[in-house]
Order: sequence, then structure tokens, then C-alpha cells
Amino acid sequence: MAILPRIGTQDVAAMPVLQSLSTFTRHAPAKLNWYLRVLARRADGFHELETVMVRLRELGDTLRCRLDPSGAVSLTIVSATPQTLSEQAIPATESNLVIRAARALQQQTGTSLGVQFTLIKRVPAAAGMGGGSSDAAAALEILNRLWNLELSRATLLSIAADLGSDVPFFLAETPLVLCTGRGEILTPIPGSFPIWVVVARPKTGLSTPAVFRNCRPEPERASAENLVSACESRSITAVAQALHNTLQSPAVALNPEIGRMQRLFERERVVAHQMTGSGSAYFGVCTSKRHACCVAARLRAQGVPWVEITSTQA
Ligand code: C5P
Repeated sequence: MAILPRIGTQDVAAMPVLQSLSTFTRHAPAKLNWYLRVLARRADGFHELETVMVRLRELGDTLRCRLDPSGAVSLTIVSATPQTLSEQAIPATESNLVIRAARALQQQTGTSLGVQFTLIKRVPAAAGMGGGSSDAAAALEILNRLWNLELSRATLLSIAADLGSDVPFFLAETPLVLCTGRGEILTPIPGSFPIWVVVARPKTGLSTPAVFRNCRPEPERASAENLVSACESRSITAVAQALHNTLQSPAVALNPEIGRMQRLFERERVVAHQMTGSGSAYFGVCTSKRHACCVAARLRAQGVPWVEITSTQA
């Protein structure tokens, strides 16, 4: 597997949707959960959620799609950070969400066209950062154009929800969204603003189903309303005060390395810190890019295997 040099944050932020007649390239951003409350277990095996997710500006994968008129679908994965794939390999097989997205579109439309995907991975797997979901959403959007399918947004969203609970969020019109149901019902939150964060992932990841199985739903807890108003007020402190994640405590119980992340961030002067999604990545809210750089440098010096800084999308 080829290892690419690290890509500068500005390079990614400025990356446009590049396209030629037969090739499209798109940035597939990672996400963080500012707020995640599990309300109840459902009969279908999923959990009823209330979560506020935000897309990240600099941190994400890159998906390149080249038209393959033969109808074949293929995927090559290139890792931009060695740690990303070392512990849990991301399969370049039919089970990969990018290939599943292409197959779903082929089935839905009957197109005879195919695609050669190249996926440059920067977002670690099993991290709660939506890497695979974002790749799938990018594939749906690109293939809709590359194959001239002209599917409506509603159809793409419905296919996205079948692929995974987090996939529709990456197709939302705003980068900040209140997601309910199992995560697929979107309520856009206007007025997102850039907040600098440090994101760190311990050596081992976590299985999403295992974390959900071990969580205790919090039907009585205060809703996401505070967090939503904090975002609308554009106050970093107010956002930080409203952070919450029901899944953090079962995740810490399953993976003690997350407890270590928590202790490391406690020692830093970050505005607030929390695990994202079902983990195992953990983030600290910073006051500026400079602040984020300093925190990241200290975490790296303490041996945290994967540390990145990024801002949230506005
Ligand atoms: O939807 P997705 O395929 O990403 O979900 C992966 C797993 O995470 C599910 O099979 C389920 O075990 C768990 N999950 C859940 N409740 C949700 C979302 C995911 O229990 N709302």
C-alpha cells in the first residue's frame, strides 16, 4: 500500500470539486459530534438518537472517480497517514461503503456504466469521525453526475440512509445538522462558524455496535436545544458548555485508551473536550489555530499515535 506525504491543511481546504469529462475528485470531510444523546433502544436493533454533527474543514479523505464504460466497479485505497490503516485495515472489497454506494446506484437506475475509484484515506477507521460514511456520500454525489443519473436529492438521501445512519448527514445542505431517528432525519442548523479543534485517536478503535450495545439510554436528559442555541449564538464557550455524548462512558469501559485520552485532554487548557460518535477519536475545543497547534504538539510528544488539528466548516 502506497503512503503519501501529509497534505497541508490549506491544500485540503482549498480543494475544489475537480472535474474533467470522465473524472471527478471530491473532498470527503470527516465529522465530529458536538452532542449525542441516545434516547431509546428500538425494535429494529438501532437506537433512537438526537445528535448534532458538524463537518470538518481541513480533515477528510479525497475520492477520485474515473468513468469505466465496461460497467466494472473497482477501488484502490491509498493511505495518507500510516497510522490510519495500520491497526484496522480498510477493505477495498465489495463491503467498502464506496463500492456499496456504486452498486446501490447501479441497481436503482440500471445504468451499464462503471467506475474506478481511488480513495486517499486520511480519516482513521473505527474513530467515530464518519470517514466511511463521508466517502459513501461523496461517491453518491459524484456518480450522480459522472453517470448523468439526474437522481433527486430526496432519492440520494434515501439511498444514503440505506447505506448507513450517518451517510445522509454528509449530503446535508449545511455543515451543522441536528440528526434524529437513527441519525438519518436531518434538521439543518444555519450559521455554523469555524471552531478550531484538536482530534486524537488512540491506537485501537471501537466497534460501533459494541458501544451502542453497552450504552444506557438517557430519555430524561436535557435535549440538544442548548447546543443548538449555543451554535446560533456563535459562542465557543457556550458550545463547549453544551457538549455531551451518551456513548462516551460505555466506550471508556470498553477501551481504556479513551480514558487516557480524557486524562490527557484534562491536563490541557482546552475550552472543553469529548469523544466523538462511538469513538475512539477524542477532541478538544481550542480558542484559535495557534492554540490547537500547541495542544497537538504536546499530545504528540506524549505518544498519542494520531493527532490532527482542523476547524469546523462554516
Ligand atoms: O447505520 P450503521 O450501519 O452505521 O450502524 C452500524 C451499527 O451501529 C448498527 O448495526 C447498530 O448496531 C449501531 N447503531 C445503533 N443505533 C443507531 C446507529 C447505529 O444502534 N442510531
